[in-house]
Amino acid sequence: MKQLAILGGKPAFSSQLKFIKPMFPTYSESKYESYFNEVFKTGMLSKGRFLEKYESEVSSYLGAPYVTAVSSRTIGLILALEALGIKSGDEVLVPSFTFCATVHAIKKVGAIPVFVDCNSETFTIETNNIEKYITPKTKAIIAVHIFGVGAEVYELERVSKTHNLKLIYDAAHAFGSTIDKTHLGNFGDISVYSTSPTKTLVTGEGGIVVSKNKEIDSKIRLLREYGNPGDYNCTEIGVNARLSELAAITGLMSLSIIDKNLSERKKIGNYYRQLLSEIEGVSLQKIPDNQISTYKDLCIVVHARSFGLDRDTVVQSLNREGIPTRNYFSPPIHKMDCYSEYNDLVLENTENISKNIICLPMHPFLTYADIEMIVNILRNIHINAEEIKKRVIQDA
Ligand SMILES: Cc1ncc(COP(=O)(O)O)c(C=O)c1O
Repeated sequence: MKQLAILGGKPAFSSQLKFIKPMFPTYSESKYESYFNEVFKTGMLSKGRFLEKYESEVSSYLGAPYVTAVSSRTIGLILALEALGIKSGDEVLVPSFTFCATVHAIKKVGAIPVFVDCNSETFTIETNNIEKYITPKTKAIIAVHIFGVGAEVYELERVSKTHNLKLIYDAAHAFGSTIDKTHLGNFGDISVYSTSPTKTLVTGEGGIVVSKNKEIDSKIRLLREYGNPGDYNCTEIGVNARLSELAAITGLMSLSIIDKNLSERKKIGNYYRQLLSEIEGVSLQKIPDNQISTYKDLCIVVHARSFGLDRDTVVQSLNREGIPTRNYFSPPIHKMDCYSEYNDLVLENTENISKNIICLPMHPFLTYADIEMIVNILRNIHINAEEIKKRVIQDA
C-alpha cells in the first residue's frame, strides 16, 4: 500500500486528473470544419441553418417534436416558467438539493420557491407527502433529474394532474438519461437540458427546451427573440436567448458521438460503483432499475462514523493525491446567503446528503486503472482514518 500524500507520501496522480472533460469527434477530419468555414465565409453567425439543423437532430434523437435551443439552461427555465404563465406571487415546489440556477429561475419571474426535501436514496425530489406543500397559490412543480437520475416522473405526473399544476423538469444533467426507454425530456410540460461544458451534450454554453406542444414551443421561441414576432412590434417582453451558429455546430459535433460518449460513461460509472460498493462507510446514489443515467456526476456519500473521517477531511485527502472533487450540492439552496429567509428551514435528507457528498472525477476519458487507483486511495484513506485525523489536528 502506498503512503498517502496527506501522510507525507507522493501524490498518486502527479499531474492532476481532470474532473470533467467533454468528448468530441476529431475536428480536422470531419465535416464540421467545413460547417465552421461556411459560417465564417457567409458571415451568418446567428439565426442560420445550423441552429435549425441542430434543433432538428436533437428532436429526432430525443423522439420529442418540440425542441428549442437557447443560450443557457438558466434562461431556458426562466422562459419555460414565463411561457407556462408562472408569475409574481405564485408558489413553485422545488427541491433544495440542486444547483442554484434551478431556484434562481423561480425568483427571477417573481414566484415563490417552496422547498421540498429530497429522497434519501435517489436524491431527487421526495414525492411522499409532496401534496402537503400544495396551497391555493401553488402553480407548478420543478423537479430535477439529479446527476442524470430521473425524478419520479409517474408520481409527479399524477400529483400535477390532480392539482392542476404545471410540471417542469430541470434536466440539466440528463441528456441521454431514460426511464422505461423514454428520454427524460419527454416527461412533464417542459424539460430543460443544459449543454454547458460539464454536461453530456455540449455547445460551450447553452440549453435545450423541450415542450409538450406547438403552442408552448412557439411562445418559447417568441420569448427567445425579445418577444418580437418578426415585425418589431413586440407582443411579449422577451430576451435574447438565442444560440449562435458556432455553438449549434459544436452541438452537432457533440451529438454525433453522443451514444459513444454515453456508453463510455456508463461503463466507467458501473465500474466505479462496483468497486466503491466494497468500501465501508460510503454509499452511492440509487439508480432505479427502469432507468439509464448519464452519470453526469459520480458521487459518494461519506458516513463519518463508519468511514472514520468526515467529508471535508476525505476531500482534503483525495485532493492531496491529485484527485479533484466537487461537493455538489453543498450548501443546499435553502442554506445559501441569498436565500436567507429560508435558512432556518430543516430538510433532513437534503442537509445530510449535502453535508456528506463528494463527486469524484467522471468523464469518458478515465481509464479503468484511474478508477482502480481512485478507489484504492479511498480505501486507504478509510484504513488510515485515525492517523489522518491526528495529522490534520497536528497541522491545524
Ligand atoms: C441542476 C442544474 N440546473 C441548472 C444548471 C445551469 O445550467 P446552465 O449553466 O446551462 O445555465 C446546472 C449547471 O450545472 C445544473 O447543475
